[in-house]
Amino acid sequence: MNEQIKVAVDGPAGAGKSTIAKAVAKRLGIFYVDTGAMYRAIALKTLRSNIPIDHEDEVGQMVQETEIVLDHSDARRVFCDGEDVTEAIRNPEVSRAVSKIAAYPIVRERLVQLQRREAERGAVIMDGRDIGTVVLPQADLKIFLTASPEERAYRRWLELYNSGKELSLDEVKQDMQRRDKQDSERAVAPLIPAADALILDTTGLSVQEIVDQIIKLTADL
Ligand code: DC
Repeated sequence: MNEQIKVAVDGPAGAGKSTIAKAVAKRLGIFYVDTGAMYRAIALKTLRSNIPIDHEDEVGQMVQETEIVLDHSDARRVFCDGEDVTEAIRNPEVSRAVSKIAAYPIVRERLVQLQRREAERGAVIMDGRDIGTVVLPQADLKIFLTASPEERAYRRWLELYNSGKELSLDEVKQDMQRRDKQDSERAVAPLIPAADALILDTTGLSVQEIVDQIIKLTADL
């Protein structure tokens, strides 16, 4: 395997990106970068600063003054201006606000810059929505994960339930559909597979099966 390997994992919410990317990173001994966490940190800061989320200029100004650091140890903490926001960025309010903020070109420009800097640190697997198309167009391997809307909603519901947040499955499904629509229809870096991405449908497959498949693909690179 190439010692500087770059793997891009994209796909909609609940397709299994982070679970799979984390497991692949562990097996290969490479960095995992969760780019969604960066957009979430900006959304959280916007909500906390009482900046109206439709004030693009104010959000853009704030992004320039924000420091986001991802910890690459197994704990995978996320820091925003020095504060550990790992749990706070998973709140449903943040999930609701994040797509709006992620559509602002000024936010994307700054975060893409940070993401490319992370990728320069060495071999990396990065997940998001535009990694194969925008952030790392020269990635050695591009995977686009999908799953049926029912399975994706159920996975996200379970994740929230396990972290003590009880929402109805319907609520989760509706939030997810709204987010997918916003992410797919935005003008800048919409959620679409790169032309050279391998599309993997994870419906009904175990994490282990998908991870094995990706590891096999990296062996030839
Ligand atoms: O993967 P996630 O659910 O944590 O992502 C949160 C939001 O951030 C999601 O609605 C889309 C946006 N996002 C993005 O636009 N581009 C990325 N590379 C990663 C996430």
